[in-house]
Amino acid sequence: MIDFGRLRRAPDIEASNLAAYDATDTYLLDFAAERGLLSGAITALGDRHGALTLGALSGGAEHVRSHQDSIVHERALQGNAVTVGFSSDAFDQLPLSPEVVRDARTVLMQLPRGLDALDELAATVAVGAHPDTVLIAGGRVKHMTHAMNDVLLRYFDTVEPQHARRKSRLLVAMGPKRDAAVQWPKRQHHARFDVTLVAHGAVFGGAALDPGAATLLDHIDEFPDTPTAIDLGCGNGILSVVLAKRRPDVHVLATDVSSAATTSARLTAVENGMQDRVDVRRADGLEGIPVGSAPLIMLNPPFHLGAAVHKGMAERLIEDAGRALAPGGELLCVWNSHLRYRPLLERIGRTRQIARNSTFTVTATRA
Ligand SMILES: C[S@@+](CC[C@H](N)C(=O)[O-])C[C@H]1O[C@@H](n2cnc3c(N)ncnc32)[C@H](O)[C@@H]1O
Repeated sequence: MIDFGRLRRAPDIEASNLAAYDATDTYLLDFAAERGLLSGAITALGDRHGALTLGALSGGAEHVRSHQDSIVHERALQGNAVTVGFSSDAFDQLPLSPEVVRDARTVLMQLPRGLDALDELAATVAVGAHPDTVLIAGGRVKHMTHAMNDVLLRYFDTVEPQHARRKSRLLVAMGPKRDAAVQWPKRQHHARFDVTLVAHGAVFGGAALDPGAATLLDHIDEFPDTPTAIDLGCGNGILSVVLAKRRPDVHVLATDVSSAATTSARLTAVENGMQDRVDVRRADGLEGIPVGSAPLIMLNPPFHLGAAVHKGMAERLIEDAGRALAPGGELLCVWNSHLRYRPLLERIGRTRQIARNSTFTVTATRA
């Protein structure tokens, strides 16, 4: 096995309380190896920084097809492959599609946090993998619920929980229901903004209207009238599409690290006839956006980093926005009032409060 201690999270946020692998990765790999399941072609789903993919290769897999939702996680796997000496030919990095699981007999999965994300992953495996496939899904016990077993039982004949090891547990699912109905992506219409949202399972908030996004959009008439706008961390595309519908001349760039988000935002744009004025790009923060170029940025920042609540990412995105804003440009931001983002925003420009209710604060920061 590889020396897991050599793996790095970079370019993901690094911090003393955040690791590049966990006891679930090693339990998944040991369990599969002990049962002779690490041979031939393997699929890894939800690998974070490469421990599963590279661990499977060093444990005997000839090739790994890997799906990681985050572009940052894809890059971490690439970097760690170089560190531990695997060629990039040894694995494919693929979107969530039938291709990533096609004919796989062993699928290793880091359980996602959300049940909808798990539902789409399990459906993809059941419908596309080999009939004899063994899906080994693992997570930290404190993040697991019985509802996860129920989701897996929608798509597999049997689900066997394994005993906990170092605070991680595995669920082994067999007997894929190959004719299961795949219900993704899902659509929901929201009369409040006359918009239909489309969402894959792993998207923040699904196809529902996020109350933070809705609070920001309630003040859309106060947004400056600009020829272009950026929707940073676009999720299902709500902010981009409502802005484009309301302002017939604006062109919006929607960006997100998550492939579920960018795929969903594209579908939301098409569903609402806005695809000509909403471009969607999978990117880490505002990479690729020239310094001092953006007249308007909208941000409903993330505050979860994996399973940990970590304000590092929101802080980084606000700093990114500060660099990308054109002189006089504005960052419109909605945030949970208890999070105290005001000083961070003041660091990048003069900030005024547009609205505040018991939960959310909406601010405009001018560069
Ligand atoms: C709170 S959600 C907001 C989604 C949507 N804009 C809304 O208002 O409903 C935050 C989004 O930020 C994305 N995100 C997290 N880290 C990011 C990064 N480094 N670069 C771009 N997007 C990121 C997440 O994937 C998530 O979709």
